[in-house]
Formats: sequence, C-alpha cells, structure tokens
Amino acid sequence: MSPFLLTRTLPEDATGAALRADVLHGLTRSAAHDPAQDSARPGPAPTVKSLPPKWFYDARGSVLFEEITTLPEYYPTRAEREILVARAAEIAEVTGARTLVELGSGSSEKTRHLIDALPALHTYVPVDVSESALTGAANTLLAERPALNVHALVADFTRGLALPGTPGPRLVAFLGGTIGNLLPAERAAFLGSVRGLLSPGDALLLGTDLVKDESVLVSAYDDATGVTAAFNKNVLHVINRELGADFDPDAFTHVAVWDSAREWMEMRLRSGVDQTVKIPALDLAVHFERGEEMRTEISAKFRAEGVRAELADAGLSLTHWWTDERNRFALSLSTPS
Ligand code: AVJ
Repeated sequence: MSPFLLTRTLPEDATGAALRADVLHGLTRSAAHDPAQDSARPGPAPTVKSLPPKWFYDARGSVLFEEITTLPEYYPTRAEREILVARAAEIAEVTGARTLVELGSGSSEKTRHLIDALPALHTYVPVDVSESALTGAANTLLAERPALNVHALVADFTRGLALPGTPGPRLVAFLGGTIGNLLPAERAAFLGSVRGLLSPGDALLLGTDLVKDESVLVSAYDDATGVTAAFNKNVLHVINRELGADFDPDAFTHVAVWDSAREWMEMRLRSGVDQTVKIPALDLAVHFERGEEMRTEISAKFRAEGVRAELADAGLSLTHWWTDERNRFALSLSTPS
C-alpha cells in the first residue's frame, strides 16, 4: 500500500472562477462601499484598486519567490529557519505530535527540520493550492522517510478545511509569516477556523514576522536586484495569461511602503502612464491614471502582545514564544483555551 494519498477539495475550475472574481472585485470596487478600504477623502469615492497576493504564485511566481528567500535583504526565511533548527526538538517534545498539518506547505523545505525531529510522527498532511508543489514535496520526503504517511490536500486553507482522520495529537503549522498577508478581519476568521480543527492536546505553530526598523523592512520588499519587483509584476503576467488581458508590465513600477499606523508592509504597482487595460474574460476595460497605485500585497508585522491577543480572540492560548537571535521573526505555539 502506498503511503501517499492526495485529496482534491477544490473543484476543477475553482481557481479560474476565484481569479475572475478577485480581479473583477479588486479592479472595479469603490472605496466608499468597501469596509476593507479607506475612504477618508470627501466627494465621489475613487476606485482604490487592489489584487490579492495569492495570485503571484504560478510556476514562475513560485520560482521568483524561492529566489526572494535567498536574497541578502529578505531575512524572514533565514530567521524562521534559525528558530526551527534551534527549537524543533523542543516543539516535538512539547507537542508529541503524531499528525503534522502544514497550511500553505509549498516546497515543505523548512518543515523538514520539524519532521526530522518528530520520531512519533505518523502522518504529514501538507495543504496547498498547488498540486505540483504537493506531489514534488511528497516525493522528496518519501524518498527519505518511506514509512511516513503523506496525505496531501489540494485546498484553499482560507476557505474552511476538512482534515483526514489521522491520529492525534495534531500539530497545525502555518509558517513563513504568510498570516501577515491577511487583513485583520481575515486573520480573525482564519484563526477561528484553525481553532475549529483542533481538539484538546492539539496545537498551532504560527510564524509571524516582527515589527522592526523601517529601512530593514523596506529593503526586504524592494531588493537591489529587482527580484521582488519582478515577483510583484508577475501578477500582471498571470492575469494576461489566464484572463487574456493586455497589461504591459513595463508600464508599472514596483512600490514598497511601510504603513506605520497599521504596522504592515504594502506592495503596490504604480502606473507610469495614463492607460486603459482590457480584460476580455471579464468583458472589462480598466483605466489607470498616471501615478495611480494598485495594492498587490500587505505583509503585516507583529508584536508579541498583538499575536497573543489575536490568538486569544480565536480561542487559542499562547504557550511558547520563540524568536531568532536578532528578534526579527517569531514562532509561537498555542493550544485550545
Ligand atoms: C510568503 C507571504 C511570507 O509577505 O514576506 C516576499 C511574500 N512578498 N516578498 C511575505 C513576499 C514580497 C512573503 N510571504
């Protein structure tokens, strides 16, 4: 019997339908009617354009992201790996996990430290929207741990998950600081749904990037070699290919700004010219003024007390808080309250 199972919980065209809905909503909504946006200016509400960051990650975008994680300016991946290496044994000891669920598992590269530290591990459940990432990661893993059961889930973890019936205790890991891509209300909903997956004795391992000096943050999201700029513009290539649009990526520039009030990094694409972009699959033409900015990502940065409070609001009690030597990134462990 093969220890590798793959379950699809996304219908065949779910991705296409979700992309069409997100692009239509993000490029046509009016700020005044959308509580997720600011509408401080008087007069007719401007359309504040935005696109969700999950659409960066096609094959090319995933390669660009992997490249970002090796840039000297982009510290989160190295900082988180440092914590995992230092604390894997302690995490294994404290949780005694027999099932490890990883949300947004991607290449599962950092998770290997955790898997290797969990001798009692019975099943690894990687969850990702990318089937190719899941099968690739499972093949690499099973080559070294042939006795491990891998039950991969092709699923969008922001949309409610059903986990396979595997032995507890369960450890649910959400690494990389990806929770920072969600707006505060989305984070609350997400943490609430994760809480719903946990039974007494289970735990959540959460990676959060921390608030730090603005110059360090801005460099991390606007690197000298322009890899992050290419990653940001990749969303335009995705929309061109999937929806037949005619975005000219060269007509936009990459912008990375620190919002000190909301404590998040924001990536935007700024139109260099007055232009109208056609999106045939939506039967839509979208106008951009010269200098107009479209938001493509928020990446929230956290403080210990904020993480503790958000977890508590979701019914989770923080039990451990680990940071790297330079206090750039944190891993927290929490359990059902
Ligand atoms: C993969 C979501 C954690 O927010 O830092 C990297 C994505 N964006 N550079 C992040 C990203 C720009 C990254 N996460």
